[in-house]
Amino acid sequence: MRERFRIYGGARLAGEVAVVGAKNSALKLMAAALLAEGRTTLTNVPAIADVTIMAQLLRSLGVDVDYDPDSGVVVLDVPETVGHRADYRLVRALRASISVLGPLVARTGEADVAVPGGDAIGSRGLDLHAAGLEALGASVHVSHGYLVAAAPHGLSGTEIRLEFPSVGATENILTAAVLARGRTVIDNAAREPEIEDLADLLVGMGAQVTGAGTSCIVVDGVEVLKPTTHAVVPDRIAAGTWAFAAATTRGDIEVLGGRADHLRAPLAALERAGCTVEVTGRGFRVAAGPGRLAAFDVATLPYPGFPTDLQPFAIAYNAVASGSAMVTENLFEARFRTVQELARLGADAQVDGHHVMVHGVPILSGAPVESSDIRSGAALVIAGLVAEGETLVSGVHHIDRGYPRFEEALRGLGADVSREPDEDLWED
Ligand code: EPU
Repeated sequence: MRERFRIYGGARLAGEVAVVGAKNSALKLMAAALLAEGRTTLTNVPAIADVTIMAQLLRSLGVDVDYDPDSGVVVLDVPETVGHRADYRLVRALRASISVLGPLVARTGEADVAVPGGDAIGSRGLDLHAAGLEALGASVHVSHGYLVAAAPHGLSGTEIRLEFPSVGATENILTAAVLARGRTVIDNAAREPEIEDLADLLVGMGAQVTGAGTSCIVVDGVEVLKPTTHAVVPDRIAAGTWAFAAATTRGDIEVLGGRADHLRAPLAALERAGCTVEVTGRGFRVAAGPGRLAAFDVATLPYPGFPTDLQPFAIAYNAVASGSAMVTENLFEARFRTVQELARLGADAQVDGHHVMVHGVPILSGAPVESSDIRSGAALVIAGLVAEGETLVSGVHHIDRGYPRFEEALRGLGADVSREPDEDLWED
């Protein structure tokens, strides 16, 4: 059944909210468990739909997965022989399924992974993933909608320079290289904290990896890995979402478990705009100053730059800030779906190529809107909080993919938000 959020605007969000492990790390760590026979345990795993889909995919490969969303623990019992085909039905539901590619080629010498279709935030190629595996000695081609990779005699370490620091390609090359013969050097690697988290898991499994978190990762292949226990790194995008929620609603939120050091660029921007940002013993706190905060320009970049995943929140923030701002998207082609929906709420924002020009207005005006992906959905909810009257945000299943019990967390901070069935004209 489709659901929507009903929001009455006007509350300044205040109080404490906790963040748990990062979606974009947990999914990759689950896939990496394939590398070792036996029971790998992950803790601090978020209670989100994407984890359930990844569990299904791993089960289809023969892994016994025990996922308890309440405790945030996933136990993956990997058999000696695992399957190697990631079915289209599952990959279509979860693009991050592509992260089984590296572990499968490394562990079984073959992988057939359905090519994910386009999605709402632009076309995302797999050329760097494929080139990386080819450099390690695999043959890679696309057949009947599947990326087919084979390395019957194993992989061999080499030097790989990525044209662009792709997160997914860095991860697949890293998880393939840990069982390759000899040394692999990944140059111009992505530096996201989730890459470091993956490398930490791999090292816990007995892999030899140095330099994760920098642009040059060095991997010395080992023959076999062993299962381990690992806690997922806190979700910096969820933490950043709360930072923007505090600023946009002119509130005061302490983000428990949030890592300010993983959010330097966005928190510095919020500070310059008039917020107080404080690192506390339990996380960090963002408190808006009196009056309207200043609009600020944003240009998304790979980590440690301003994250593309926080871009929709920056647009929603600027929509009610004082002044005008240019928001530039440098990572994904079509990640401006939020803008047309924000316009329905009375925002003054125009898209021009990969830029959006936003002129702040004092208040938005509640209306029904539709979320098209995780981040744009959550950003529309925050916009609804600064809209006069009632806002209905449809497509809540997108938000559920990334934010565990989002409306409960919002209510804990004083928001008037409820979840309800969505009317569907096609249902009867
Ligand atoms: N790209 C290529 N070829 C490749 C790989 C990437 O052209 O082989 C391009 C993509 O088309 C895109 C850009 O490079 O334009 C960035 O892609 P990247 O590989 O870095 O991103 P990703 O691994 O596909 C992850 C997150 C995204 C997040 C980006 C950027 C996961 C599951 N997804 O995607 O998160 O936006 O990194 O930080 O980890 C989300 O959580 O909502 C989300 C979309």
